[in-house]
Amino acid sequence: MAKCGNRMWPILLLLTVALVLVWRNLQQAKHLSQAQISSRSRSHFTFDESLYTTEEFSEDYQQVEQPPIPPLTPRGQLLQQLLKCRTRNLTFERLQHGEYWLLQNLIVGRKSRLMRCTESITYTTNGDYTFFDNLEMVAERWRAPISFAIHAPGYDLNTTLDSIQYVKNCLPGSEYINDFVTFHLYFSNLHMPVNVPHNEAEVLQRPFVCELKNGTQAPPPWTLRPREAMYKVAANLTYPINVGRNIARKAANTYFIFACDIELYPSVGFVDQFLDMVVANQSILALDPKQPGRVYPLPVFELQAGVPVPNDKAQLLALYREGLAQTFHKKMCASCHKVPGQEQWLNRAPSVTNELHVWSEALREKEFRYWEPFYVSDNKEPIFDERVTWEGQSNKRIQNYAMCLLGYEYHVLHPAFLVHSPGIKKNNGTQSTRQIYARDMTRFIKTKIEPEYRVLYGRRKSCTT
Ligand SMILES: *[C@@H]1O[C@H](CO)[C@@H](O)[C@H](O)[C@H]1NC(C)=O
Ligand SMILES: *[C@@H]1O[C@H](CO)[C@@H](O)[C@H](O)[C@H]1NC(C)=O
Ligand SMILES: *[C@@H]1O[C@H](CO)[C@@H](O)[C@H](O)[C@H]1NC(C)=O
Ligand SMILES: *[C@@H]1O[C@H](CO)[C@@H](O)[C@H](O)[C@H]1NC(C)=O
Ligand SMILES: *[C@@H]1O[C@H](CO)[C@@H](O)[C@H](O)[C@H]1NC(C)=O
Ligand SMILES: *[C@@H]1O[C@H](CO)[C@@H](O)[C@H](O)[C@H]1NC(C)=O
Repeated sequence: MAKCGNRMWPILLLLTVALVLVWRNLQQAKHLSQAQISSRSRSHFTFDESLYTTEEFSEDYQQVEQPPIPPLTPRGQLLQQLLKCRTRNLTFERLQHGEYWLLQNLIVGRKSRLMRCTESITYTTNGDYTFFDNLEMVAERWRAPISFAIHAPGYDLNTTLDSIQYVKNCLPGSEYINDFVTFHLYFSNLHMPVNVPHNEAEVLQRPFVCELKNGTQAPPPWTLRPREAMYKVAANLTYPINVGRNIARKAANTYFIFACDIELYPSVGFVDQFLDMVVANQSILALDPKQPGRVYPLPVFELQAGVPVPNDKAQLLALYREGLAQTFHKKMCASCHKVPGQEQWLNRAPSVTNELHVWSEALREKEFRYWEPFYVSDNKEPIFDERVTWEGQSNKRIQNYAMCLLGYEYHVLHPAFLVHSPGIKKNNGTQSTRQIYARDMTRFIKTKIEPEYRVLYGRRKSCTT
């Protein structure tokens, strides 16, 4: 017994020490957890910190990997390794953008909703309901996400919603619009509509008429109101084109975007051609931050009225040789859309495969100093200056001035192209109100915008607005 008791002592001692240690750990853990709780609740009381916390929480939430169906294509996987982008969901948000209220992602394209950042290219564009005529053509040709910012002040919102229902339901190409077009509406807080939709369903439940009682196709809502009856015209508003451009760009969730005007139709198959080209030769991209920025313009053409829109370069060249197609704004501002190596571009026969490659390179200097190109980019190029309206013209020159100051390189593609909606503009003296705006704007650009940009982006003698 005694022997046994002697042996028990050290064991009891060890047990006691262990119990003390466990108790102390428990106390410490309790202290720590209380400290955490109090620091968290404190952060809810101070305004800045609580803002920061919600931001962090939503970031954490975003990182939850929920592989949406379908899985990433092999090309998408390769590009994901290369570009390392993160996909954001296209969810409805009411946002402020300067003086404008923005209903971002009010209606989301069915396929665009599932698109990951490396899978496609977003065509970002803008307009009001009078531009809806172009949407079917663009969606049918692009067949990839389209981010469409629509200016809808006052009661123009009603016609805009009617027009959205019409293009989503009544056209042969409505399926492409439903698959790919994401609509954002914006209006100044000084020109509020009486009612706005509170979600996508409210828009989609709106009644629409595709067919008249006698069986003919109903006219589109945007043709039913005379121009003078537009809120925008009655209230003497200018069209904030660069606000729309920036909204559409910011809302895109793919790595590559194509900031375009909705009246410009791309050649067919472009998105796959571009992504295939990048996968085949990654040095086409300037991914090293030390390299100057790089964008990929497409040559732009215009067509005589009534001419069918060419799908590929072979069809374009056939029209060009007959004088039915010409380079964009040839009569109004030839140097605004001339691309480097243009003659050779036109003389080069199209290949059967339409395989895309970089054709020529230039800076926006010397003979290209007035160039206003439309290009694919990684959405990192300077924003569009929102002080410039459509009426003031020059609305793209300023962005390209900033890009010139930054040393951006323009790598022109072949054989893809853009064509303007058929009908060629002539330089008539009739746009006098626009010219008055343009004259004021030119002065404003010289005295205000250019000096600001030299501070922001740096100096370079060879750059012009
Ligand atoms: C994005 O949307 C998908 C499908 O609706 C959903 O499964 C996923 O959780 C969402 N992801 C984020 C980060 O919100
Ligand atoms: C616009 O639509 C709303 C709701 O559908 C309606 O109440 C309003 O009268 C309409 N306004 C105009 C000017 O048509
Ligand atoms: C059908 O009705 C509309 C308007 O009521 C009219 O403009 C159109 O000419 C009619 N079409 C036919 C084929 O009767
Ligand atoms: C319309 O707006 C322009 C520029 O803001 C102004 O010069 C003009 O006087 C206005 N016209 C009317 C009828 O309000
Ligand atoms: C890949 O692209 C770079 C940059 O445009 C070009 O210099 C190079 O020749 C291309 N390589 C091939 C194999 O086409
Ligand atoms: C352009 O000007 C010409 C002659 O100056 C005139 O005949 C024509 O109608 C004008 N076009 C437009 C669209 O105003």
